[in-house]
Amino acid sequence: MSVHSEVKRITTNVLKSMKKKGEKIACLTAYDYSMAKLVDAAGVELILVGDSASNVMAGHETTLPITLDQMIYHAQSVVRAVSRSLVVVDLPFGSYQGNSTQALKSAIRIMKESGAHAVKMEGGKEIEESIVRVLSAGIPVMGHLGLTPQSIYKFGTYTVRAKGNEEADLLKENAKLLTDLGCFGVVLEKIPRALAAEVTASIDIPTVGIGAGSGCDGQILVIHDMLGINKDFSPRFLRRYADLHTEMTNAFTGYIKDVKSGDFPSERESY
Ligand code: KIV
Repeated sequence: MSVHSEVKRITTNVLKSMKKKGEKIACLTAYDYSMAKLVDAAGVELILVGDSASNVMAGHETTLPITLDQMIYHAQSVVRAVSRSLVVVDLPFGSYQGNSTQALKSAIRIMKESGAHAVKMEGGKEIEESIVRVLSAGIPVMGHLGLTPQSIYKFGTYTVRAKGNEEADLLKENAKLLTDLGCFGVVLEKIPRALAAEVTASIDIPTVGIGAGSGCDGQILVIHDMLGINKDFSPRFLRRYADLHTEMTNAFTGYIKDVKSGDFPSERESY
């Protein structure tokens, strides 16, 4: 029997034993109650309340504008829906980079006000003190390396990271550092699959890939992307499991037609 099917509630230890046993970890983002309820019931092990909410929920171009209060609002909605998955919440841009006291304060607010189970922070060595401080309060931390969207203005583009030796070596060092500090897992975003596989084999905490190939311990996708709600975003790593753009557009146009023609509501749909 698989580790995850035996447990009522997914914890960080469950994820670590899944890695040990070679069981893949399925993760998705969610930002609201209704979607999180579906995702949790389907059996996803980890739900990330990602700061991608800034893009897909609020319509911003980057993840930078979303605030700590807004992340807490999304996290509260997700936590209310979830009975089994581990809920991880992104510390948003500007809520932890200042210093470790700021990081701890922000992480405590997320845990206290939303009831989530862990936080995620982007970066390695440069945020080491903040990671240590948050961990010291008993808050599980997930790392995030490779393409870190909160640094988009430093990178300049959303292209694949760590293709060269120097950046790849730094990423390997940072993955080891996050492991040694006590992070329970790490997201690897948009890096060559050989590098992701090498990192995954070299550390004993789970790696969760997005655009990082099949060698990672788990995979994550942004829920709006995998449901095909947004037609304009088509990176190579994205597999669409539904075409909700078409389904929803058909539903809306059907409704408009029925309202205009007087077909809706019918007698049976009236009191
Ligand atoms: O914010 C987010 O959705 C993320 C995932 C892409 C990993 O960080």
